[in-house]
Amino acid sequence: MDKSSRISGFYKLSVEERIKKVREFSDLGNDDIKTLKEGLSLEYADRMIENVICKISVPLGIATNFQVNGKDYIIPMATEEASVVAAASNAARLVREGGGFEASSTEPVMIGQIQLVVDDPDDAQDIILENKKQIIGLANERDPTLVSLGGGVKDLKVRIVGSDDRRMVIIHLLVNVQDAMGANAVNTMAEAAAPFIEEITGGKVYLRIISNLATERIARARCVIPQRVLGEDVIEGIVRAYEFAAVDIFRASTHNKGVMNGITAVTLATGNDTRAVEAGAHTYASFESEYRPLTTWSKNKEGDLVGEIKLPLAVGTFGGATMNPVARVMHKIIGAKKASELSEVLAAVGLAQNLAALKALSSEGIQRGHMALHAKNIAVMAGAGENEVEKVAQKLVEEKNIRVDRAKELLEELRGE
Ligand code: MEV
Repeated sequence: MDKSSRISGFYKLSVEERIKKVREFSDLGNDDIKTLKEGLSLEYADRMIENVICKISVPLGIATNFQVNGKDYIIPMATEEASVVAAASNAARLVREGGGFEASSTEPVMIGQIQLVVDDPDDAQDIILENKKQIIGLANERDPTLVSLGGGVKDLKVRIVGSDDRRMVIIHLLVNVQDAMGANAVNTMAEAAAPFIEEITGGKVYLRIISNLATERIARARCVIPQRVLGEDVIEGIVRAYEFAAVDIFRASTHNKGVMNGITAVTLATGNDTRAVEAGAHTYASFESEYRPLTTWSKNKEGDLVGEIKLPLAVGTFGGATMNPVARVMHKIIGAKKASELSEVLAAVGLAQNLAALKALSSEGIQRGHMALHAKNIAVMAGAGENEVEKVAQKLVEEKNIRVDRAKELLEELRGE
């Protein structure tokens, strides 16, 4: 029987019970559970970056209800922000009623840039294109494993940028990186090809580095939510919210921040490079015109809500920090077989996160959702113990007065002081 990520009441379970559900869903073993509970060791952390003195912890929650291309997923999200995991799960539940997300992605092709400064850029461009095969060959020699797996440099393009006597030639190596994020492979290849490019053009190569504007590595997701699920007014509100972002860059920025709340949380959980993904997403948002929302929302003929997202998603399921033991467990939980599948899941998460935000913002606002957790924090600040937090927090929310001084009074009443 296919597994279902529609786990109702997941949020009401204890941490132990949640782990049990995740274990069942993702077939985790005893070692995986041990890793989940212990987290990254200091020894491992010390090998990941320099000058380590400790680790910083970020809460990791599981978003439920996701269905992408007919497959069910539960999704680990690492974030310090309250409501993000609940919002993604709620939106995924709504999308599920319309048949889930449809998603697709291009081949995992990253761009490596080589900056060449030369007296005659036009002439250099011709020379580089004439020697294209040899340049590609030199780059591919540096990563026979990637090439044997079907990856490696697939094409080379040349651009001339800058003006007057500051013009320069920019060579793009188009590298299929398979299941890696790809930065290491791409940078190595760009560095390997550079001396030959200098030799044939007589110019000087400066930078040899990946571009995070990964226009060749695009993921898309789409969903249709029937009108009966949301109602006409809510749909109108969501479409209006999108229209606002589409015409106003101040709103577009926040709209996209909401999209990235979801995408960054999964990127971080899986040991991928959050800054690379964010740089790519935001630059892509202004790639064709002025800065735009990464999603679109409209109504179809039947009045159903149609949402779409399209963005570069350079994430890997293998290599680099995705190999750290905690990230390995997260990859097992998601169960994506390839990096392209992971990118499709991420696109769906981004769309869900945005749907949840627009739905809340265009109706009751987002503050009520934040209040429950906020109230718990205030109760703890007032000195509530484990058995008192829930009661004090609930009262604070009921009274719509979430303040430490009131929490202290409630605590005294509760204790009969
Ligand atoms: C908050 O982290 C994210 C939102 O501001 C996104 C949005 O406004 O669309 C709620």
